[in-house]
Amino acid sequence: GQQLKSIADIVALHIRKLGPLLPVLHDVQAEFGFIDAAKESEIAQVLNLSRAEVHGVVSFYHDFLSAPDPRPEVQICRAEACKARGVEGLMAAGEAAAGKRVRLKTVYCLGLCSAGPVARVGNQLHIRLDADRLTQVIEQS
Ligand code: FES
Repeated sequence: GQQLKSIADIVALHIRKLGPLLPVLHDVQAEFGFIDAAKESEIAQVLNLSRAEVHGVVSFYHDFLSAPDPRPEVQICRAEACKARGVEGLMAAGEAAAGKRVRLKTVYCLGLCSAGPVARVGNQLHIRLDADRLTQVIEQS
């Protein structure tokens, strides 16, 4: 009978197929704030993929938005050092303060690990947060 492919062969096949797609999508999302059908087509063309393949990946991840999100965004670091400094204990207060008006986005390390928990709004970093400070930051965003 036919020989089965190895796991490594199967993985290699898919990695070659999607190649730089994920990093490209992350950069496009960061640059434009969304990835709509037109952007999917353009990316597909440049990477020599079908638009369906690109759309499949875009719709799989929450991080990729198909339209601009008009809400203010508050980024909260939930990487190791900020976890050790208690960020998880602030999330309930953060979510309550954000409601539907503010978009909370989890990020991994804002570079101020020794002064965590850390949040960022635009270019502004807020350090040593507790529940009250985080609530304030979100309410003022
Ligand atoms: Fe949160 Fe580095 S881990 S700023």
